[in-house]
Amino acid sequence: MAVSAPERSTRLLAAHAPGAVEEAARLLAAGGLVAFPTETVYGLGADAANPDAVAALYAAKGRPAFNPLIAHTADAAAARRLGAFNADAARLAERFWPGPLTLIVPFTGGEGVCDLARAGLDTVGLRVPSHPDARALLAAFGGAVVAPSANRSGHVSPTEAGHVMDDLAGRIHAVLDGGPTPVGVESTIVDCTGADPVLLRPGGLAREAIEAALGRPLRLPMSESDAAPLSPGRLASHYAPRAALRLDVDAVEPGEALVTFAGARPPGIEAAATVLDLSPAGSLTEAAARLYGALRGLDASGVSAIAIVPLPRDGLGEAIADRLARAAAPRPSDPEMPQ
Ligand code: TXA
Ligand code: MG
Repeated sequence: MAVSAPERSTRLLAAHAPGAVEEAARLLAAGGLVAFPTETVYGLGADAANPDAVAALYAAKGRPAFNPLIAHTADAAAARRLGAFNADAARLAERFWPGPLTLIVPFTGGEGVCDLARAGLDTVGLRVPSHPDARALLAAFGGAVVAPSANRSGHVSPTEAGHVMDDLAGRIHAVLDGGPTPVGVESTIVDCTGADPVLLRPGGLAREAIEAALGRPLRLPMSESDAAPLSPGRLASHYAPRAALRLDVDAVEPGEALVTFAGARPPGIEAAATVLDLSPAGSLTEAAARLYGALRGLDASGVSAIAIVPLPRDGLGEAIADRLARAAAPRPSDPEMPQ
């Protein structure tokens, strides 16, 4: 049975309601688009083996078809059947899956992930998420599910089902609502196709943990442009709110919204339109989990400028700094321009 996409209305399925996961899996099997929670952000899922479903997914997101998608599987054994794992990839998979790590490896999966999902590349991005609802859905579906973040292209990633509805209601079949996502920033992406693993995107798994497991430092892409065509999450303006962002501020301009951390109170705070502390306790993990929700919330409140205090750069601070730098980068003039 086929389902047509997009539908007029998007179903919100409470993940713990009886039959919800099975219904979401059925929609995927029928070629539908289903957003679901992972521990990082909500993903927009489609059957990885179904090119029609993948084409509909690109259309729903407004994402250019040359961007490859991450294939998610229920367990590492299923992921291992889709790619060739060298010793580094095998070690990282063993150590960090299920979890917020995506490995890029040579593709060996036959029909398991269609060409369109890989944007024609002979490599594939693989991830085994740890979120229980994601795992239940993947197990019920059986095959690989490709899932980019469930936002319109260029918007910040959704960390709650309501964010997905804001961006994609009427464009996808269903959202499996599993509550807020615990990590809050996307997975760390490591390219394991060469002799030395390369950090393509800092994310929800701290670089330090990966380097400790490998016993050596991760390489960085030779230049921003080396990674950009393959990893659009690295493109300049990405993850962007509508409001202008000012980073690493040491003083607040009147009328700006202030995003602060660990109780920091920069000069001018009294004249801020609103003040939001990402983690009064100074936890980068908490700050990462709250980052996108904070940007969405401030956008929705209508502020035109957001000032952000400097945050530490260690641990998840690397991913936070990366996303903020991209969010603050100059915007393409066309808001629908794929990013
Ligand atoms: O946490 C996450 O990774 C979330 C959840 C839903 O799993 N997904 C996510 O997907 O962030 P997306 O599509 O927004 O970002 C995936 C990134 C893109 O920058 C894409 O270019 C890169 O992964 N990517 C995928 N396959 C690749 C490949 N074969 N080579 C290089 N980069 C790849
Ligand atoms: Mg994304």
